[in-house]
Amino acid sequence: MANQEEQFKKVVAHAKEYGYVVQSSEIYDGLSAVYDYSHNGVELKNNIREYWWKAMVQFHENIVGIDAAILMHPTTWKASGHVDAFNDPLIDNKDSKKRYRADVLIEDYAEKLLQKAQKEIEKAAQRFGEAFDEEQYKSTNPRVLGYLTERDQVLTRMAKSLENNDLADVKALIDELEITCPVSGSKNWTEVKQFNLMFGTKLGADAETAMDLYLRPETAQGIFVNFLNVQKSGRMKIPFGIAQTGKAFRNEIVARQFIFRMREFEQMEMQFFIRPGEQMKWYDIWKKRRMAWHLSLGMGAENYRFHKHEKLAHYADAASDIEFNFPFGFKELEGIHSRTDFDLSSHEKFSGKKLQFFDPELNESYVPYVIETSIGLDRMFLAIFSNSLMDETLEDQSVRTVLKLPAILAPVKAAILPLVKKDGLPEIAHQIIADLKFDFNVIYDDKDAIGRRYRRQDAVGTPFCITVDHQTLEDQTVTIRHRDSMEQNRVRIDALKNIIAQEVSISSWLKKMQEAL
Ligand code: GAP
Repeated sequence: MANQEEQFKKVVAHAKEYGYVVQSSEIYDGLSAVYDYSHNGVELKNNIREYWWKAMVQFHENIVGIDAAILMHPTTWKASGHVDAFNDPLIDNKDSKKRYRADVLIEDYAEKLLQKAQKEIEKAAQRFGEAFDEEQYKSTNPRVLGYLTERDQVLTRMAKSLENNDLADVKALIDELEITCPVSGSKNWTEVKQFNLMFGTKLGADAETAMDLYLRPETAQGIFVNFLNVQKSGRMKIPFGIAQTGKAFRNEIVARQFIFRMREFEQMEMQFFIRPGEQMKWYDIWKKRRMAWHLSLGMGAENYRFHKHEKLAHYADAASDIEFNFPFGFKELEGIHSRTDFDLSSHEKFSGKKLQFFDPELNESYVPYVIETSIGLDRMFLAIFSNSLMDETLEDQSVRTVLKLPAILAPVKAAILPLVKKDGLPEIAHQIIADLKFDFNVIYDDKDAIGRRYRRQDAVGTPFCITVDHQTLEDQTVTIRHRDSMEQNRVRIDALKNIIAQEVSISSWLKKMQEAL
């Protein structure tokens, strides 16, 4: 645990030092759970967004994109259920005065039970070696069985209480499980209360007539209210999807863990409109497709897992998260939700407009069902950034800090480094930049010894360093150093473009995604 915390602190410090992420309004001591992306961070974020957009919109003939406004008619949020049901159950500890989400406290307790069971299983696997049958052990070993059964019971009871809005029982569960405050260590809790997460604002200058608005808490509703516009203007036929990326705002109760849970964040969402009754087929297809997108980035299949929701949101008939192994453990990265016809039907009711599709094959009109994929761009950023940051001990026992970002996402693709600042080498380096900048984001660096420059680029995550030396003057060759292997080869200047393109072209990464399907 201490190790995890240390690793996470390193991630936050590295993000600041190397121009990725800083606290918003830092000179005024910052604004809680609001962050700014610096010069490298904005590039990484743009690249993640572009890779998602290409994989969703460009890669699918039947998906198109939109960019809806952040401010929407307030009735939108009545229809979507957010005014009445977009609440988190909160609880305060009277000693530390800290506020928590009651469901998160219980889920953390359940996660510890799972970890205990897993430890027992790992120990047994070592003891029994090849002969170990994990399934049999799980179903017969009393200790493991005890942990797993208790976990199921706790989560099921919580889901039921939350569904019934029985907050007294959620509090009773916290008391019975003897959950303590991580800060004060005490069990001195308040009652559990509901708290609406939407930020309110006003439209209009006159205080009396101004209209109450909300900053959107999800981008999805901008897609639903545009369903008919897009279907008609794009002449789309079911099944089809609408994708969108953009800011969302939530007044989160527990906003910690850096950019994992923010008050202002960005979502990348896609609503896939289908025939009623076909939702389970499409739900499975989209679970597979989204996992393939993640795996194509090469961050290790062992770092992802699906988590089926016990407690379903008010709009869903099935839901799973793709969880990622963050420095603080497995947590939700993306949601795949079967949203039924809840949203479109509700907007029909509230707006009085028909939001239906005439299906020529069935010769009937219906309100389409929806499968949604929804991922937080900032959370994906954190997944990639934390997974890529590592300290490597080299052969000479020195340690290098390297950010092994997937090459396609790296902010800067190559640094061009003249060995010395004279003899015409800087001029050649600038000429290489002038040629490469049409295709790639590249930079020039002539400060410090070459070894230090390599280390600086390793820490920034630049996949290639290109060094111009005296031999370049004679034969038009340079050395190209690969960030991950640290291998160096001598290549002709006119070959550089192809070498870099091979590693960073989106099409080859999309092919990897298709292969994983
Ligand atoms: N339209 C469905 C929806 O918004 P959600 O599970 O509430 O579903 C989807 O959010 C994704 O948005 C999450 O999986 C997460 O990646 C991201 N997300 C949600 N709240 C966030 C927050 N406060 N900060 C950063 N990312 C967040």
